[in-house]
Amino acid sequence: MARATTAYVCQECGASTAQWSGKCPGCSAWNTLVEEVTSKSGPDRTPTGGKVVALQTLDAEVPDAPRISSGLAELDRVIGGGLVPGSAILVGGDPGIGKSTLLLQAAAALANSGHTAIYFSGEEATAQVRLRAERLGIASAPVGLGAETGLAHILKTLSGKETAPDLVIIDSIQTLWSDQLESAPGTVSQVRACAQTLVRYAKRSGAAIVLVGHVTKDGQIAGPKVVEHMVDTVLYFEGDGAHQYRILRAVKNRFGPSDEIGVFEMRGDGLREVANPSELFLGERDNTSPGAAVFAGMEGTRPILVEIQALVAPSPLGTPRRAVVGWDSSRLAMVLAVLDTRCALQLGTHDVYLNVAGGLKITDPAADLAAAAALVSSFCGVALPAGNIYFGEVSLSGAIRPVGHMSGRLKEAEKLGFTAATVPAKLGEDTGGTGLQLDTIAHLSDLTARLAPPERA
Ligand code: TYD
Ligand code: MG
Repeated sequence: MARATTAYVCQECGASTAQWSGKCPGCSAWNTLVEEVTSKSGPDRTPTGGKVVALQTLDAEVPDAPRISSGLAELDRVIGGGLVPGSAILVGGDPGIGKSTLLLQAAAALANSGHTAIYFSGEEATAQVRLRAERLGIASAPVGLGAETGLAHILKTLSGKETAPDLVIIDSIQTLWSDQLESAPGTVSQVRACAQTLVRYAKRSGAAIVLVGHVTKDGQIAGPKVVEHMVDTVLYFEGDGAHQYRILRAVKNRFGPSDEIGVFEMRGDGLREVANPSELFLGERDNTSPGAAVFAGMEGTRPILVEIQALVAPSPLGTPRRAVVGWDSSRLAMVLAVLDTRCALQLGTHDVYLNVAGGLKITDPAADLAAAAALVSSFCGVALPAGNIYFGEVSLSGAIRPVGHMSGRLKEAEKLGFTAATVPAKLGEDTGGTGLQLDTIAHLSDLTARLAPPERA
């Protein structure tokens, strides 16, 4: 007979130990070890009595998954063209970022187009949700509203309907509790069990289900990470308090691309979709002062132009300050080192500040050249040409390497009235059709030679 033993398994990384401790020996997270029953010894536990599965080929006809438009074009774009019936979506984000607002607006738009949408709020009373709906001007939309946190009651309500609703929103998964478990709402086991039951309901009934999950830093309640693997699509809603822009980013998507973003603006009357984010991010640009370069970036399949601002100033400190907002600080360190070593710019005694205007966070490596242009421009006190955009990856040798989607970047810049582009010398793909004047550079020193007066370079 198998001997049951207990092991303590980390809920973050899966490491298992025989003894409980406050800190996981695997990932050093605190309070993540949970007791689980395992059986180490005993007979072979291979299951018996299965049936033979009929294997299929890969090339059979598959109908496209039917999609229902959520009524918000930016949301549709991020999830790959609309809601897939029977799918589960997780929307994560910091508290107060606008998840409830976004989903209430989507539910209302869907309900107004003749579909059925149900919104379960576990955090706000129905009166509060109604008040919000009134403020958003969507109070007349036929959304089914419920304030409930008991999983059993929610399932009973949903399965009592003759036809399954098209969309069910659970706001939030961390407030739900299942009476099958003794732990408190918001714990890993509750969040996981409730999500599993709801995902199963979605698959069975054909309703698309959206789970809202707060991102938590203190670990008091389980974050959305514990349900990411169960759902079909994971979206994160980001933004910061200082800006009105909100970015909805797909990080996992079984039914579409996983690098698409949707851009919204939070206003007094709710979230407004931003169809042309470049215009927004370049909005209040002052293109006469040194240190600003326009970067033609790509977010998913969409080109987005943003301004990268740099300030390089002599430092009174022994170890000069390096501060960066919206870009990777190690990437900045790399570009600075290349400017220093390969282009002989003495940046080592200067404080460096780099900022991506508008609150966007850039991960595209093509931003290297634009950041370098902004840095050199600020260092030399020479403003960059106003109608010029920049993109290209900087390698450690200082060579400028080609990047993806070059024609898309150029097209977007042309559409917005830019006239010239500083781009990698080896243009990998066809960029012949562009109306922009192309200024190709092979090495970063070509750029510094153009901007820096000889005595400084
Ligand atoms: P909310 O959707 O409640 O955030 P979450 O569900 O992610 O916690 O949004 C809350 C914030 O949004 C709140 O600080 C107020 C702001 N807000 C507006 O600026 N305009 C609006 O129309 C609404 C409804 C909210
Ligand atoms: Mg909320």
